[in-house]
Amino acid sequence: MNTKAIQESLIEVDKDCRTFRINREAYYSQEVFEMEKALIFDKCWLYLGHRSEIPNKGDFLTRTVMGRNLIFQHSRKGELVAFYNTCTHRGAAVCWDRKGNSKVHSCRYHGWVYDTEGKLKSMNTETGYPEDINADGHLDLPRVRVEEYGGLNFVNFNDNAISLYDFLGEQVRDLLDSINAQSAEEMIILPGEHAYSINANYKFLIENSADGYHLGPVHQTYLEFLADKYSGTKESGVFAKMANFQEKGGAYAMGNGHFLLSSNVPTGRPVGYWIEEWGPDIKKEIGANRQRLTDQLGQERADYICDMQKNSVIFPNLVINDILALTIRVIEPVSPIAMKVNAWCLAPKEESDELKEIRLDNFVSFLGPSGFGSPDDGSMLNSAQKSITACPTEWTELSKGMQGVDDLRVASGMTDDETHMQGYWTQWDMLMRGAVSLEQQI
Ligand code: FES
Ligand SMILES: [Fe+2]
Repeated sequence: MNTKAIQESLIEVDKDCRTFRINREAYYSQEVFEMEKALIFDKCWLYLGHRSEIPNKGDFLTRTVMGRNLIFQHSRKGELVAFYNTCTHRGAAVCWDRKGNSKVHSCRYHGWVYDTEGKLKSMNTETGYPEDINADGHLDLPRVRVEEYGGLNFVNFNDNAISLYDFLGEQVRDLLDSINAQSAEEMIILPGEHAYSINANYKFLIENSADGYHLGPVHQTYLEFLADKYSGTKESGVFAKMANFQEKGGAYAMGNGHFLLSSNVPTGRPVGYWIEEWGPDIKKEIGANRQRLTDQLGQERADYICDMQKNSVIFPNLVINDILALTIRVIEPVSPIAMKVNAWCLAPKEESDELKEIRLDNFVSFLGPSGFGSPDDGSMLNSAQKSITACPTEWTELSKGMQGVDDLRVASGMTDDETHMQGYWTQWDMLMRGAVSLEQQI
C-alpha cells in the first residue's frame, strides 16, 4: 500500500446505503502502524496511572507508555509528575523498581542522583566537570507532560496538544464523574495487575472491549458458568433475569473517537445493585451507597450509576469496563499484529472487604488473562488476525446500526450495534489523514 492511499482514507462510509467499512490493511500493515505511532499515539493523551497508586510524597512507579520507559512520581512538592527513566549521563535507567518511595533516584551505572522533581543533584564526583555544567537544567531528567482528570493521569508526547480536559470532552468527563461518584471518599486501584499479550492488532481488542454483539456467541461458557453458579436461585435470581440482559442502554460515540456501550445487567453491581446471591450481609452496605447517591445526585443519575454497566474506550487505547468489577485496561500496540495489555481493578476506598472480593473475583474470573472472557475473546482476535492477511476480502464490515447522519454522536438505542465503534474509526481516519488537529490553536 502506498502513502497516498492512507491519505485518501482507510474507511469507506456510505451514508445513503448506511454502510461503514474498514480497509483491512488497517489491521496488519507495517506502514499503517508506523503512521499510527506518529499521528495518533504521539498526539493523543495516553493513560499513565491512577493517583491512588502513588498517594504519598516520594511515591513512584515505573511504567512503559508506547515503548517509552517513564517514572510516574509524586514529588516532594506534592505534584504528580512524569519523566523519562533514562540517565542524562549515558542512558542507563535511573529507577529499576516497579514501585516504591524514595527521596531520590540514583543511577546504578556511575552514581548520578536525581530528586523527585527530576533535578540532577549529584554527579558522584568532585572532579572533571565545570561547576555550572547543569545551569540550564539540560541534565535533569526529561519531563513528560502529565494531566489528570478524576484521579486518572495521562501523558502526552506532544507539548502543543490540547488539554486533557478538552481532549476527553463533556461526555467522557461525565462518564468519569459517574465512576468517581461510586465512592463517598475516593476511588482507588486495588493491589494486583493483569499483564499479558495477544498476537493481534490492538484495534481488534479496542472493538471487542465494548462489543455487545459478540456476547452470546463467544461467551456462552461464561453464561453457563453463571447459570451453574446461581442455580440454587434459578427462579428469582440472576439467571432468571438473564433474558432481559442488554434490554436497556445503547451504543454511543462520545466525540474525539471515545465511545461507550451501556446496558442493564443481571449480575448485580457492588456500587448499588444488590442481588440475593450475594447474601444478606452486604445488602445494607449496598443499599446505603445507593441511598447516598440518590440523595446527592437524584434518582435518575443514581439509577444510571447503580444499574447500568458501561464499557467504554477513551481514544486511542484506554478501556474502562465498569461492569461488575471496574477495570482500567490499557491496550498498547507493539507491532501491527501484536499488543500488550495491562489492567487494574478500581474500587471505592471505603468499600468492605466482602464487596472488594466480589469485584476482584469478577476481575479475575471474567476479564483476567485466564478468566472466562479474555481467552475466548483472544482466540477470536487471533483467528481474525491470521485470517484477514491471507484473504482477498478487502473490507471489514462495521455497519450495524449505522445512522446515516453526519453527527456520529447520535446514539443507537441498540446494545449490539457498532455505531460507537464507527465514531472511533472516524476519528482514527481523520487523524491518519491530518484532517483534524489535536493541537492548541495559537
Ligand atoms: S549512565 Fe547514569 S550515571 Fe552514568
Ligand atoms: Fe468478550
